[in-house]
Amino acid sequence: MIQIGNVLLKNPLFLAAGCAKHPDGARKILASPSAALVVGSITTEPYGVDDGDVLWCDGARSVTGFGFPNAGIDAWQSDLVELAAAAQEAEKPFVVNVAGNSVEDYLNLAERAFVAGADAVELNFAWPCLLSSRLVKHSFSDDPAAVTELLRAARHRFAGKHGDLWLKFSPMQPTILEQMAAAIGEVGGKLVTAVACCGPYPRTLFLEPDGSSVVGSDSFGQMSGEVLRPIALGQVRQFRTLLPAEVSVIGIGGVSIREHVDQYLYMGAAAVGLTTAYQVGGTSVFDYLFAEEVTA
Ligand SMILES: Cc1cc2nc3c(=O)[nH]c(=O)nc-3n(C[C@H](O)[C@H](O)[C@H](O)COP(=O)(O)O)c2cc1C
Repeated sequence: MIQIGNVLLKNPLFLAAGCAKHPDGARKILASPSAALVVGSITTEPYGVDDGDVLWCDGARSVTGFGFPNAGIDAWQSDLVELAAAAQEAEKPFVVNVAGNSVEDYLNLAERAFVAGADAVELNFAWPCLLSSRLVKHSFSDDPAAVTELLRAARHRFAGKHGDLWLKFSPMQPTILEQMAAAIGEVGGKLVTAVACCGPYPRTLFLEPDGSSVVGSDSFGQMSGEVLRPIALGQVRQFRTLLPAEVSVIGIGGVSIREHVDQYLYMGAAAVGLTTAYQVGGTSVFDYLFAEEVTA
């Protein structure tokens, strides 16, 4: 068993956010070898149009340029309660990933997820929601001061009542990452039990031979898969060195064979998540990843 805060995982591998965008997708994951059920990201208002066209992937690298559509927390609410019960029966921790527009919005979403029965709430800090002076949106991942403010507010609101918070970051420059780790150490208290890295690398351009972007003629894409793994491994190792021992690190990015999982564990990750390989291979990815049963 692997312990992350109050969450127990039977094995170190789970399907990360983006694999269960709908309750039906979540039920499929409950029946899979994934060690946890992670749903979301879920926002307060419905976001985007889900026409199934969410991913460009060549088998190893993936690019999403469409945002991650979701029906919003009101549409999810009753399913969250049912999924929490189903996850408990399946002996899998239930993790709800939320994406807010502000400190208040993140915490409201987290509270609703906890009340519905989430064992942990993952805050998607890769979500671009903060306006800079140039009116370009950036994310909490870019902004240690904003994360500090959010953690202070979270402690005030949840301490003693709810846990565990997992913080999911985009890839960060070392100086920003150090400031994030310091903020979590100083303000995270017992509330933050894990850091998940990484979300996709933002604003990349994968180009077709004619020069257009693979996700739309003139659109940036968010990059995941094979190309993210060296970056995410570096983030895991840096975080593991800097964070207090009681905060676990979860490695995500470009996992498609057993060796990749082992690399993350070797760099100090307590558990490992994957999304792109699941989008490509479905639950058969587990047969491919692990011929034998996964053991902790
Ligand atoms: C199609 C797709 C949808 C995703 N949706 C979400 C999401 O809603 N919330 C989130 O935090 N991350 C989301 N991600 C990011 C993944 O959870 C993961 O952090 C990233 O893709 C790196 O892992 P991978 O290389 O195994 O895909 C999504 C990724 C993909 C490819």
